[in-house]
This record gives sequence, structure tokens and C-alpha cells, in this order.
Amino acid sequence: MHNKILILDFGSQYTQLIARRVRELNVYCEIHPYNNYPAIDNSVKGVILSGSPFSVHDSDAPKPNLDEIKGKLPLLGVCFGAQLLALTSGGKVMPSQIREYGRAMLSIADSQCTLFKGISQNTQVWMSHGDTITEIPSDFVITAGTEDVKVGAYFIKGEKTFGIQFHPEVYHTTEGLSILRNFVVDVCECQQDWTPASFVNETVENLKSTLQNDKVVLGLSGGVDSSVAALLLHQAIGKNLTCIFVDNGLLRKDEFEQVLNSYKTLGLNVIGVDAKQRFFDDLKGISDPEAKRKSIGKNFIEVFDEEAHKISNVKWLAQGTIYPDVIESISVNGPSVTIKSHHNVGGLPEKMNLKVVEPLRLLFKDEVRRVGNELGLPVNILHRHPFPGPGLGIRVLGEVTPEKVRLLQEADSIYINGLRQYDLYDKIWQAGAMLLPVQTVGVMGDERTYEFVVALRAVTSTDGMTADWYHLPYEFMAKISNEIINRVKGINRVVYDISSKPPATIEWE
Ligand code: XMP
Repeated sequence: MHNKILILDFGSQYTQLIARRVRELNVYCEIHPYNNYPAIDNSVKGVILSGSPFSVHDSDAPKPNLDEIKGKLPLLGVCFGAQLLALTSGGKVMPSQIREYGRAMLSIADSQCTLFKGISQNTQVWMSHGDTITEIPSDFVITAGTEDVKVGAYFIKGEKTFGIQFHPEVYHTTEGLSILRNFVVDVCECQQDWTPASFVNETVENLKSTLQNDKVVLGLSGGVDSSVAALLLHQAIGKNLTCIFVDNGLLRKDEFEQVLNSYKTLGLNVIGVDAKQRFFDDLKGISDPEAKRKSIGKNFIEVFDEEAHKISNVKWLAQGTIYPDVIESISVNGPSVTIKSHHNVGGLPEKMNLKVVEPLRLLFKDEVRRVGNELGLPVNILHRHPFPGPGLGIRVLGEVTPEKVRLLQEADSIYINGLRQYDLYDKIWQAGAMLLPVQTVGVMGDERTYEFVVALRAVTSTDGMTADWYHLPYEFMAKISNEIINRVKGINRVVYDISSKPPATIEWE
């Protein structure tokens, strides 16, 4: 069993980042809500208390039960976590008089403190809090502070309990990863053995013993998650895994054939289903984005179900669910409000009456990529930009027709190939083109044209939750715009989207 760090979540927007950083250190960790965490067993080597949007004085502020933890296991409180430990131990926490938000320089008072071993004096840290610790109990020792924050960090005498009033997990805390390393490796004594290779070995063994001789069906999308899930299952159960890859007519140009070939080359037992017509027929007359998503989702489930029924004796449905999806549904804040109904395969397990197996449910996206790399997934799939399940169905704005999809596929393909040629593809988190539901006047040769507008979008992001528009070079935009307008008859104008998320979203629908 791996050593593990337990992260108790008080609802901070950064909790997942703490987990990512700990995993970057090749130490396994799990996030659990502060009020519903599993029994502490021998595998738990230490606990981290996250930040929170609450003030410790709010009447509905989280009040965790730490009886099994504090003083018994190494414990690190981050921001709210640190304030909570100070308050419940007899200290004082007050609203800050000055803004404690953003960058600050930390001066370390106790360089012997294990947490700050090897950390530079005046290292940059990131603060984000409305309260501050003003008085500490007598058994607390201050180990670092900033100009405005006296108690930047502390430990409790006789315990392995530490508090820090800054966020080590965010990028702007320059030596944050080293501080976390000092905690998980030196204080908690965790082995750094959580690697992609160990994950693959253990997962394959687990899958073998869970699935034995059962048959499993899995929907492939061409994306990295379902592909990595398929490879893991393939290693575990070989031909007992059947993959279904549905052509809904809304994929990128030539993508269905290319990806299907890659899958076959990998030795996967994959059935490609041409269901284009069915999706287009059902989309006729629908222009509302959510109604389009529902139509595409419903048809996908039906096609998948029909195909799965052709395989005798299937017992399991495999899905490429990853950690952020799992956390969303069990977080302190509850499943977040549906802004867009993203997971259009959500209805599959209920409909099919199969047991569900999700080999990636503990991994973050970047970890999925590392595991994919370990498994030999070709780079064209491994580094593919995220692509929405409803595909071009939500990038043709308004009503979807086969002709509009064809136009968009052509423009999109010029754009994406251009990004690859100019070495821009891997610098961008996600890129794509949208066909707008308006036509504009243009002139080509001596003729007046009245044709569609295409909008190009490229964003940087780490998780799709927030995103910034990518600053494409003007020469590149000029070249692509020219190429699209000259080559794709039916489009006479190209625009570039310069909105960030929030307030905009990545997709236009
Ligand atoms: P938004 O548009 O909400 O997108 O900023 C965030 C990420 O989610 C993808 N996305 C979807 N993925 N089904 C999916 O599987 C959907 O309906 C859907 N809508 C958006 C989007 O491409 C981006 O990566």
C-alpha cells in the first residue's frame, strides 16, 4: 500500500492544486471533505488542511473533528487551516487591517524549522486572506513572517503540527513546492514512489483481479482520457475489452479515420460505427445549445447501447472519468451548478445496467498524460487539445446542418494544421474554430459575396476552469485568415476571439 497524504477540503479554490503539487512529488494523496473523511489507517502519513472561502468566525464556518489527527500525525494548516488551528488552540484570529492579498516576501525567523529547510530568506509567497492570526498560544512558535503578517508560519511545540498563512500550492509562491516537499517527505516521511510506472503496474493488477474473465465495453472519443483507460484495460484483459468509437459526424476533418487507425495499430479491439446520418437527422431544426447537447448525448447513448448489445455477455462499462470530475461531485460545496451539461455520457451506466469501472478516477489530466506516455500512446492522441463531447455540434452556432459542419471542418483543419506547422499547437491548451450564424458582405474578384464568418479561438489554461486568450502572432493570423477565405468557399470573413474565461467561456455555446 502506498503512503498517503490526506487533504481535508474546506472549500478553497486551491485545494485541488495542493493535491497536484503533492502528486508532483510522487507522493499519493487524496482530497476529502473536512466533514466526511475516511477512517485514518496506517497508510496516512500526514494531513493537510486546505484554505477556505469562510472566515473562522462565520457562524457556518467549517468545524472539523481533528481528534484522530492533531498531535497524532504530522499536520499542516494552510491559510484558513492555519487560522483554525490557532483559534481552536486558544489563539486569536481577527479581520486583517491591511489587505493581505497577493505577493509578499517571507522572512524566515527559524531556519532550523524542517518546513523551511533549504528555502531562501525573503522568498516570494502568495497571500489570500481577509483574517489574520493576531495572538498565538504559548506552545506555538513563530517561524516566519512578512512585513504585514507577523505570524506567516508557526509550529506547535511537542507536535508535528505546522501552520502557514500563505498558499504554497500556487505558482506565485516561488518555493512552494519545496516547502510542501519538506512537509510530505521530511516531516511525514512519505516514500516518493507514486510514479506513472507504479500506477500502471498496480492498476493493471487490480483490473485483472476485479474483472477476471468478464467482458468490458468502453466508448472511445479520440481524447486522451478514454484512450488511456482503454490501454490500461487492454493490458489487463486483452480481447475481453471491446471499444466502441462512434462517428457522430461532428468530429474534426478526417479525424474518425485517423484515430480509428491509431487505435487499431495499438492492437485495441475497436468497433467504428458510422452514425452520422442519425445525429444530423435528430439535430434538424434545433438551435438551442443545451437542446443540441441533449440530442447529441441521447443519440450517443442509443448508438452505444445498440452496439454494446451486439456483444454477448458484457458485464462492465468502462469510463475515462478523471479526478476533477470525482471531486466535483463530492466536494464540500456539492456538485457545482451546471453551467453547461458537459458530461453527455452521464446517462450511460443507468441506461445499460452494467457495473462501472473507472481506472483513471484518481488521476489529474497531466497525470493521465504521463500514464499515457508510459503506455506508449502516440503523441497525436497524447497531446491532443481537449475537444468537447458534442464536438462541432456546439461550434456550428445555431442550427447544425451537414453542409455547415463541412465548411467548419475545412476552416478548422486549416487553422489547426497551421498551428502545428508554426509550432504553436503545444503552446496552446485548446484551439478551434466556430461557424457564426451570420453572413456578411464581401467582395471577391468583381463579385459581391454574402457568406459565413468563422471565429478562431485559442486559449491557455491548466484545467479549463479559467482560461486566457492566446496571443497569436499577427503574421500567423494573416496567413490563416487568407488561406481560409481563399480555400473555403462559403466563408468570406475570419475573426479572432480575445475574451478570457471568466467572464466568457471557451466554447461559444
Ligand atoms: P467552457 O466552454 O465551459 O468549456 O469554458 C470548458 C471545457 O469543457 C469543454 N466542453 C465540453 N466538453 N461536453 C464536453 O465533453 C460539452 O458539452 C462541453 N462543453 C464544453 C470545452 O471544450 C473546454 O475544454
